[in-house]
Amino acid sequence: MSAAPVELRLLPDSAKVDESGGLEIGGLPVAELAERFGTPLFVYDEAHLRARCAEAVAAFGPGVSYASKAFWCLAMARLVVEEGMSVDVSTGGELHVALAAGVPPERITLHGNNKSDDELTRALTAGVGRIVVDSFDEIDRIERLVPMLGSAPPAVLLRVTPGIEAHTHEYVRTGQNDSKFGFTLSTGLAERAVGMAAASPAMDLIGIHVHIGSQVFVADFFRDAVSTIADFFASVGLHELSIGGGIGVAYVADEHAPTITEWADAVHAAATASGLGAHITAEPGRSIAAAAAVTLYRVGTIKELPGLRTYVSVDGGMSDNPRPVLYGSGYEAFLAREVLAPRPRTVRIVGKHCESGDVIVPDAQLPEDVAVGDLLVTPVTGAYGHSMASNYNKVPRPAVVFVSGGVAREVVRRETLDDLLRLDVDG
Ligand code: LLP
Repeated sequence: MSAAPVELRLLPDSAKVDESGGLEIGGLPVAELAERFGTPLFVYDEAHLRARCAEAVAAFGPGVSYASKAFWCLAMARLVVEEGMSVDVSTGGELHVALAAGVPPERITLHGNNKSDDELTRALTAGVGRIVVDSFDEIDRIERLVPMLGSAPPAVLLRVTPGIEAHTHEYVRTGQNDSKFGFTLSTGLAERAVGMAAASPAMDLIGIHVHIGSQVFVADFFRDAVSTIADFFASVGLHELSIGGGIGVAYVADEHAPTITEWADAVHAAATASGLGAHITAEPGRSIAAAAAVTLYRVGTIKELPGLRTYVSVDGGMSDNPRPVLYGSGYEAFLAREVLAPRPRTVRIVGKHCESGDVIVPDAQLPEDVAVGDLLVTPVTGAYGHSMASNYNKVPRPAVVFVSGGVAREVVRRETLDDLLRLDVDG
């Protein structure tokens, strides 16, 4: 185990160490943010988010969509649209937030492997820009709904599974043949779906969509996906190819990931090498939001078990970050008051939930003097953290603040205890 301080490259772009050694983001000491907004707290560097959106638009062009599942709220929706991105929503709920935020419907793409009549109806009546069709049942459903609603035939992409096994956790791998998503290329289902969609007056088939998985570190997998799909794509004579999302980000010291620009370059080079004249677009989520945020926790108890280990308990846990439990994902941790301090002490950082699996970092390195009351920081929590948060053990979900130029604005308030009762009908 290395006792080195946290690597600053894992922190949001505007992160700085102030003269007393403490962490500052967006020009504000995080200790102040914790005092003002409480803990646990998600702190997003707004400039970082904007810079990644701008990078995506520069790399892929204006049709590039932000995958809202990574982190979604009204403020985020407005930010991504201001930066020129479109938006990918995968449920009626994400669509609802997009529309409530005023995202122009033509900039919304609706995804999902099991879109309900209600979800499709909302998308069709709002006039979303694209629907990514995932099954034969969905083709039937659109053919039934479009004439019934009298809506314009939607522009449609067909989701195709190319048979690529990207190296990532099996729960977030989606390009392999054995998948609940899309139409498989190798079995001929993709070809049959193209025939049906192209012949249907209820939809305007404009392209193909391929998403091989998430947290994929190697741009080569995207290159393979493009070259695997190339012949099929050329044979169907369509204009648009979406490569989905999935480029990985570094969470811990030994991880390195390509930038959004490097990812786009690899995809474009593969398209050129395969002679594809398509308009190529993409749907990054994690690479926009993950490294933009940190979570602040307060240390509540430190339990030293002689000869075994030390447990450091914080005031959140698997309810605000289920990724370690779900995928075995690694995180770094450090103290907000001494960012550059060596971290020689190996401890287990755990949450406040009533199960032993509630672990945030199984073998964390912290400074020797970690104490009750310390403010602990876990970086790279901006994607699939707040969006996957739950109320397990009736723990209220944390607030989210955006910081920029020395100003903090709360964009999602902390849940209150009364919020925990708001759905109960048995008053
Ligand atoms: N497009 C489609 C069709 C997707 O299914 C996804 C992610 C994305 C784009 C965005 O992928 P990204 O750029 O964020 O990798 N909860 C998991 C990740 C699940 C990803 C699901 N789909 C996690 O915490 O790692």
